[in-house]
Amino acid sequence: MKKIAVAIDGPAGAGKSTVAKALAKRLGYVYLDTGSMYRALTCELLHRGVPVDREEKVCSVVQNLTVEVKNDQEELIVMVDDRDVSAHIRRPEVSACVSQVAAYACVRQHLVKEQQRLAENGGIVMDGRDIGTVVLPHAELKVFLTASVEERARRRLVQWNENHPDEPQTMAQIVQNIQERDRKDTERAISPLRQAEDAILLDTTSLTREETIDTLTAMVKKVTA
Ligand code: CDP
Ligand code: CDP
Repeated sequence: MKKIAVAIDGPAGAGKSTVAKALAKRLGYVYLDTGSMYRALTCELLHRGVPVDREEKVCSVVQNLTVEVKNDQEELIVMVDDRDVSAHIRRPEVSACVSQVAAYACVRQHLVKEQQRLAENGGIVMDGRDIGTVVLPHAELKVFLTASVEERARRRLVQWNENHPDEPQTMAQIVQNIQERDRKDTERAISPLRQAEDAILLDTTSLTREETIDTLTAMVKKVTA
């Protein structure tokens, strides 16, 4: 069967990473979580004490950094140069400023080039904010995944509290971060979050994870039939 490129975009907590990863596994495709790349650079900048509100400082550091994403069994491993930042990329302090870092042209150019290189041979499921519009404008299947803010925050809260029982976050903290990031990602000048004209809209508010994966699998089958 022909191997295609699948672009999945949408706001925070819509289920993109979870279902994109499962879909790639079902199809025997490569999976790339582009959000983890923006998070990894942000994490490294914070680690080095670079002021993330100073674009020229961010750009001078970022241009010399290499981000590598590996799917090791079920685990996502994200490296910046030789440092494994996987355990830190979802921390609240990274979530709080990743959208500011992701709005800089130098950051986007640096990462988009690498994302396009990884997709050269097709057979890839990539998720993010600008995959269908900028990174893979010729992807054979584009899906814009969304869900209500309340449902997206609820999912995020469950996900965080399961993995960090000693460090609970409140629903209010999560809602605030999601809304703030959605606003910055949608309003930024370069590659804002928006549904590509040829993308299929899929609202997952009342769908389970499995139902979403089945729906996407059926969409791929239709395109490759
Ligand atoms: O998983 P979650 O929805 O919380 O976010 P993510 O996919 O890990 O992405 C984190 C942030 O990176 C987003 O809020 C965007 O600011 C940025 N991002 C982007 O600008 N473009 C992408 N293709 C992917 C992520
Ligand atoms: O990548 P994105 O920010 O769009 O979302 P995610 O991290 O993949 O999904 C957030 C959480 O929602 C995960 O724990 C998923 O298992 C869950 N989820 C769900 O409950 N129902 C869905 N239809 C999709 C995801």
